[in-house]
Amino acid sequence: MLSGKTVLIGITGGIAAYKICELIRMFKRANANVRVICTPNAMNFVTKLTLQNLSQNEVGIEEFEIPDFKPEHISYADEADIMIIAPATTNTISKMANGICDNLLTSIFCAFSKPVIIAPAMNCNMWNNKIIQENLQKLLNHGYTILEPENGFLACGYQGQGRLCALEKIFDAAVQKLSQPQTLKGKKIIITAGGTIEDIDPVRYISNYSSGKMGIALSDTAYSLGADVHLITTVSAQKPYVVEKVKSALEMQKAIEKDFADADCVIMAAAVADYRVKQPSEQKIKKTSDEEITLTLVKNPDILKHLCEIKTHQTIVGFCAESENLIENAKEKILKKGCDYLIANDISRKDIGFSSDYNEVSILTPNGVVKKLERADKYTIARQIFEEIYG
Ligand code: PMT
Repeated sequence: MLSGKTVLIGITGGIAAYKICELIRMFKRANANVRVICTPNAMNFVTKLTLQNLSQNEVGIEEFEIPDFKPEHISYADEADIMIIAPATTNTISKMANGICDNLLTSIFCAFSKPVIIAPAMNCNMWNNKIIQENLQKLLNHGYTILEPENGFLACGYQGQGRLCALEKIFDAAVQKLSQPQTLKGKKIIITAGGTIEDIDPVRYISNYSSGKMGIALSDTAYSLGADVHLITTVSAQKPYVVEKVKSALEMQKAIEKDFADADCVIMAAAVADYRVKQPSEQKIKKTSDEEITLTLVKNPDILKHLCEIKTHQTIVGFCAESENLIENAKEKILKKGCDYLIANDISRKDIGFSSDYNEVSILTPNGVVKKLERADKYTIARQIFEEIYG
């Protein structure tokens, strides 16, 4: 499965280091060339001889150990297709997040420009430490993949989150990264997600049932296919690509239009409110003896339609949420909005659409329906949408 690929495994000084012996065997069974590097502290938990025998390669520990015309950390970084750091201790994570290169492993990490998977393992209190979480977030923001530790009984006697994740999870993540075609490499894609929030007063708002799942699935998929993703969302998300949190339709429009000129594609999966409250109250609206009160709503800009009017080279994709006459309404909508593609989904069904992990959609162009995608999880739907748009 992985013949021709070199997997570089970095082991740091934690008790879970012993598990990595089995991970090396998994990669060897998949025909990968496995190179192992350890921090000096890792050698308290595993032996060089074991790792050398399992990987059938020299194990690197100290910098400047093997004289070569090329600095050793650069040779390792050039040779490997992927780097896995497991277990990643608090100490090494903090060094990596701050660019500290004080041993062979951290120096290679800094010089490594291909995918990196980090699998932390530590005591649960260390995991919950805010400084560690900030360092992890920093690594995530720079595009590194973090496989979170699992909950369970820890070697230190504590119960909580900190156990190295399953080895299969690390193996699968590496295989996925090594076999993923980068069909969207070089494309700048803006994707919107979630329902906009239109304030009534400081306490209440108008919104809808969009969870953001469809937009996030599209963003994750685009990112894994190599795109440069900018997710503009009303729901929080911690991702290895750019995430911009917005609230209202007006904020969403501003965020999109700021980067629109440079984008190759915009996908509007967000459910944008058509109307907002004309004059949101600065103070909480008090209950009175009146049986009825009136809120005056004004029209929000149609973001999608406006993008289609000002576009130069961008591919513009809208979503269409309908509760009846799905295809008929979608055909009308794509012509009205002027977008290149419209993804029509039926939001009257409970098993797809709003908040569900699943969807079933029809892809339309201005000429009509081009493809119906059968019910599947939103990640599968997202992948099929990109296949339709970019081949
Ligand atoms: O977030 P989930 O829970 O995963 O649910 C996914 C979803 C059902 C929200 C998603 O798949 C979807 O259908 N999103 C579009 C919802 C919507 O607003 O549909 P619409 O038919 O009202 O609008 C059509 C298109 O115009 C949409 O791309 C919308 O983003 C855009 N629009 C709408 C109004 C407006 N003022 N400006 C816009 O740009």
